[in-house]
Order: sequence, then structure tokens, then C-alpha cells
Amino acid sequence: MCNKLMDTYPNDANEVDGSGVAIESEQISELCRRIDVLEDRLRQAQRLSAIGELTSTTTHEFNNILTTIINYAKLGLRHVDKTSQTNAFEKILIAANRAAKVANTILAAAKNRKQTFEPVNLIALVDDAMLLLEREMNKYKIIVEKYFPQVAPEIMADGNQIQQILINLLVNARQAMPNGGRLILKIAHDETEEMLDLTIRDYGCGIDEVKLPYIFDKFYSTKSGPDETGKGGTGLGLAACKEIIEQHKGIIRVESKIGKGTAFTLRLPTVIRAKLIELQEKNSSN
Ligand SMILES: Nc1ncnc2c1ncn2[C@@H]1O[C@H](COP(=O)(O)OP(=O)(O)OP(=O)(O)O)[C@@H](O)[C@H]1O
Ligand SMILES: [Mg+2]
Repeated sequence: MCNKLMDTYPNDANEVDGSGVAIESEQISELCRRIDVLEDRLRQAQRLSAIGELTSTTTHEFNNILTTIINYAKLGLRHVDKTSQTNAFEKILIAANRAAKVANTILAAAKNRKQTFEPVNLIALVDDAMLLLEREMNKYKIIVEKYFPQVAPEIMADGNQIQQILINLLVNARQAMPNGGRLILKIAHDETEEMLDLTIRDYGCGIDEVKLPYIFDKFYSTKSGPDETGKGGTGLGLAACKEIIEQHKGIIRVESKIGKGTAFTLRLPTVIRAKLIELQEKNSSN
């Protein structure tokens, strides 16, 4: 943004027209500085809103797990025979392990604010996001179908950021189907291009052709505010998705038909492709 401004009004403008223009160029620099500060603040707000979303999702999930633990503990106390008690203990252990996994996911997301790219497993990231949203999907009668390959190459990514994106896309899909519906998650490896494609397809309300060009704009939202789970309505979700995917040298695409549903596809470089891109960038800067 600022570079564009500076190109339009280059610094040497003051040589053309004495002091008046020099002040103008200073004003532009000051404006640029302010825009940079504001953009930084916006990024911070996006991160905080993503963490807020994660926190509310996790709290619901914890409540669910606690209910399971309490019910099995009561069952174990009521039925004193060994088989029932062992069964109750096993169920409590499974629930507690799940709670630990959920807690680790949110801790990792809250702690690691700096962007770090490393080889990550996209299938595991999608599974983790679904683990957090499982209860919510059940509550809204969303049937999730997964079409994942047995193995897929790792992508070069910041796992927390990709998870932030996945949660927003999955929540958007769920919100598009208030009366339930199908949600299809598909991962495919494009071996020629060494890219991984993740498609998140819902059969919800769809997006009007006229509105489609605006959905990635910051603050564009058709939601009146957060829903009863505390999510949606800021209009920052897809803007952050686009920014993050582009930082990952990937592409986000959308196809939608009003009344039929929407499909978002994330196309991300595998580790091999990311290394190639890095090499090409190094060569072209030399
Ligand atoms: N799967 C979808 N089905 C239908 N409309 C969608 C879908 N995903 C996004 N949209 C439209 O795009 C808009 C922008 O989405 P975005 O995720 O950026 O913001 P939001 O969900 O409204 O708020 P938040 O920033 O809290 O996520 C939504 O308000 C909605 O109109
Ligand atoms: Mg959203």
C-alpha cells in the first residue's frame, strides 16, 4: 500500500517545486507510517479474534468432555461390580485424554504468535480442527464426510495459522447450513505441481454472484453479529484466510451457487514445491 503511494509521489518531488512539495512528500511518509501501524493493529486484531474463536470452541468442547467424565464417574459409583467400574474408568480415561489434546491445541495456538514455517501434515491439521468442532457440528446436524488419501506429503506451513483458517472456513460452512446438511472435506495431492488441495464444500445457502467479489474484503460480512456460539460477524475471517494463504505462496479459490452451496479450495505447496520456490526466489534476487 505504502510503496504504491511512494511510487506515485516519489521522494525527489521536492526537487521539482521547492518547499511546498517537500512538505507534501513528508506528509505522505507520515501517512504511510500511520497506515503501517494500522495494518499491524488489524493483523493483531485478526489474531486475537481467531484466538477468541478457538477459546469459545474449546470451552464448549471442555464442557462436553466434563459431562462425559461426571456421568461415567457417577455410573462407576452406582454400579460397584468390577466390569462396570472398569468400563467407567476406561471411558473417563478416553475423555480425559481428549481434553488434554484439546488443551494442547489451544495452548499451542495462543503461545506461538510468530510465523514459523515447517513441514506439517495437513490431514492431521484438518482432523485437529474437526476435533475442536465435532460437538458444534453434531449440535447443528452437520454430517461430515472426509475423503483423505492414506498418505499425503507434508506442506511447508505455519500450523497454527492454517488451523485458524480451517476453523473459520468450517464455521462459515456450518453457519451457512443452520438447519443441518452435508459438509465434504477432500484432500488431493497434485503430483505434477507438488501442491496439496483441500476442498471444504458445504450444501448451504450459497453466495450471491454479485456479493462473491467482496467476500475476501476486510470487514465484509452479511452476518448481523456473533451467533449463539459467539462466532461470526466481524468480516475478518476470509480476509485473514487470503492473507495467510498468500503468505504461504498458496491460492484460495471459491465456487458458489445461491441455494446450492459453496466450496472453498486451499492450494498449498508441499515441502518439495516450497523448497523449489525458495531456490527460484534466491536465484532471481542474485
Ligand atoms: N460457506 C459460506 N456460505 C455462504 N456464505 C459464506 C460462506 N463463507 C463466507 N460466506 C460469506 O462471506 C462473508 C465473509 O466471511 P468471513 O468469514 O470473512 O466473515 P464472517 O464469517 O461474516 O465473520 P468472521 O470474521 O467473524 O468470520 C460472510 O459474512 C458470508 O456472507
Ligand atoms: Mg467467518
